[in-house]
Amino acid sequence: QIEKKVDALLKLMTLEEKIGQMSQIRHFEEDADVHITSKYIGSIIHTEGPTPGKTALDWQKRFTELQKKALSTRLGIPLLFAVDAVHGQNTFEGATIFPHNIGLGATQNAALVEEIAKITALESAATGFNWVFSPCIAIPYNDKWGRVYEAFSESTELTEKLTKASVNGHQGNLSDPKTVMATAKHFIGDGATNFGVEGGETSLSTKEIQERLLAPYKVAVKENIGAIMASFNTITGISMHANKALLTDTLKVGMNFDGILVSDWKAYSRFGGNDIINAGIDVVMAVDGDLGSFHKGLKAGIKNRSVEISRINDAVKRVLRQKFRLGLFENPFPNADLVKEIGTKKHREIAKQAVRESLVLLKNQTQILPLSKETKKIVVVGEHANSAGLQSGGWTIHWQGTKENYKGATTILDGIKQHAKGEVVFDEKATKQQFDADVAIIVVGENPYAEFFGDIGHESNQLELMLTKEHQQYIKTYQEKGVKTIVVLVSGRPLVVTEQIEKSDAFVAAWLLGSEGDGVAEVLFGDYNFKGKLPHSWPTSTEDYKGKYGPNFWDDSIKPLFPFGFGLSY
Ligand code: IFM
Repeated sequence: QIEKKVDALLKLMTLEEKIGQMSQIRHFEEDADVHITSKYIGSIIHTEGPTPGKTALDWQKRFTELQKKALSTRLGIPLLFAVDAVHGQNTFEGATIFPHNIGLGATQNAALVEEIAKITALESAATGFNWVFSPCIAIPYNDKWGRVYEAFSESTELTEKLTKASVNGHQGNLSDPKTVMATAKHFIGDGATNFGVEGGETSLSTKEIQERLLAPYKVAVKENIGAIMASFNTITGISMHANKALLTDTLKVGMNFDGILVSDWKAYSRFGGNDIINAGIDVVMAVDGDLGSFHKGLKAGIKNRSVEISRINDAVKRVLRQKFRLGLFENPFPNADLVKEIGTKKHREIAKQAVRESLVLLKNQTQILPLSKETKKIVVVGEHANSAGLQSGGWTIHWQGTKENYKGATTILDGIKQHAKGEVVFDEKATKQQFDADVAIIVVGENPYAEFFGDIGHESNQLELMLTKEHQQYIKTYQEKGVKTIVVLVSGRPLVVTEQIEKSDAFVAAWLLGSEGDGVAEVLFGDYNFKGKLPHSWPTSTEDYKGKYGPNFWDDSIKPLFPFGFGLSY
């Protein structure tokens, strides 16, 4: 049925209209309005994730306007609206923001991941989006990669399980207006580059790529994922965007993927123009800056036969197919009634459950945890305890995240204050010297970052993955005065914290929590038990990173401080 409609529509289209369907344009450019009504008629509007200051209704209004314009063009083909909703609808304050995927990996809870994807889809649909660039199903090989937190785990098996849950949760029955099209990314080898360089060279054997990296994509395709995004990295020197063998032969033909293969950012100009189309890319992301050259370049390619029209037809069919599957021809507009479902108590409860289940207890030597609510005096140390932005990581309100609090979120400190019956003092930089406290809860970790090497708060140690001297000092200050210390680490990956673990009485890996920071206190005070298990093996020293790939479970020569799957409980 859908295939017939796709074929019929394709027959009516001019070459320009076809190229238009392959163009993804950014929403905020005034150009968006012009492009979608030009003879090329843009196909997809893209918001590169978080844009502060917007509300769901603002987005809805803008998308409704654009959609009306698109529908009034010659063939009236509806637009897709895409967004990086990678840990909930993270584009504006007030929506539910979940732990990043690394935290979900620690839960190992597929039913929970499915529920979270469902809520993300609903809150995204309520904002007017019908397509999300999530989940990232990379297998990170090296903790230096600045996107480790966006992936579930170093374990292929666990990633397969959570991929299935995530795809089903996002997409459900795709024509349901409360669901969205998902994107598995980045195909392939994104997290396995030498030294963890974003967009670097991945030099794994074909066998390892097959066994460790492709397996989650096979699951995604089996679950009918609507889109897959190509990766910035190269494999044996060939840009993945121009790698026909992997994009077309392996993914599209070999694995029977019939959805949209979308490029990453500005790939047309970066990775060889028409080569990427010939390799199998169907939709080019962020072409607005060089839309003219894309249109002209592709048209010229058709004319001089360096690009076959059958390739263009295949690309356009894939886009139209998803538009039909999403029911956009019948139901093209955002639904204002859904807005009330954004950031509800019910959704936040699920996010809080995810926070609780993601916490991994690495040490509890003196059985200091669970902490008694009757404790007379607790000092809470570190700026990460008191900032929803710091606890949430990149892709939160802003692309690179924020250090500030944001509306609707609770912090770790909020939760501690709510639970403790005794005195709670906040000592941001360990300068208030509350040495008469019965216990110090010290929250340290990384600053938010997205897409590069990451930010531990200072340059020098950035590639050594250690805490800043300042954060190390917070722990020392209290520990040297004999105050019992519970360290909570907020980070997007394992860090080298062997010394800090030794010095503390208890140590918790909390990952990047999202909007429900108070979930941490519920576990620290024993209302719930620790359930989280390490989604990555944990390094002992910076020496562990000297190898090409760093500490990974398949490098038997390195014994991790804690193995994959480790996690204590009460
Ligand atoms: O979806 C992202 C991708 O993960 C990294 N580059 C930009 C894309 C769109 O924002």
